[in-house]
Amino acid sequence: DGAKLYSTNCSGCHQAGGQGIPGVFPPLAGHVPQILEAKGGREYLIHVMLYGLQGPIEVKGTKYSGAMPAWAQLKDGEIAAILNHISTSWGNKFPEGQKPFTPEEVGAKRAQKLTAAQVLEARKALGLK
Ligand code: HEM
Repeated sequence: DGAKLYSTNCSGCHQAGGQGIPGVFPPLAGHVPQILEAKGGREYLIHVMLYGLQGPIEVKGTKYSGAMPAWAQLKDGEIAAILNHISTSWGNKFPEGQKPFTPEEVGAKRAQKLTAAQVLEARKALGLK
């Protein structure tokens, strides 16, 4: 399930409570809903999982410039479960009207074949503060 997959694959960097490590690994707690609310944010989260992310970003006023590895080796259903976990844990919630991620929604993004640098470009278009 999503909690177990998160614990195995993500918590080493983003921490068990999703709080990250300031300046090193960005928080997911209190932050994933901001991404989901942005236009294109849902698609962006799938892209981060499939293709990774590399280069300078800012989250809640703190700068990061690391590399997030890609998780394309996980199954579509596993990625959907992880995304649903980080969207609904630690006080995070889906914005009004958004449904949970499905394996089909994840699978549909596999054809795009982006680089981690292109995912960073896509992030800029979200207008995250
Ligand atoms: C960024 C989730 C595993 C290191 C991100 C972001 C998300 C995320 C959603 C984007 C944040 C944003 O754009 O504001 C996850 C999930 C994981 C995972 C769900 C498990 C499948 C990891 C691991 C590491 C890591 C294992 C460390 C090896 C990072 C770093 C960034 C990041 C450094 C920022 C990259 C940059 O500065 O450009 N992660 N992550 N993540 N993640 Fe992960």
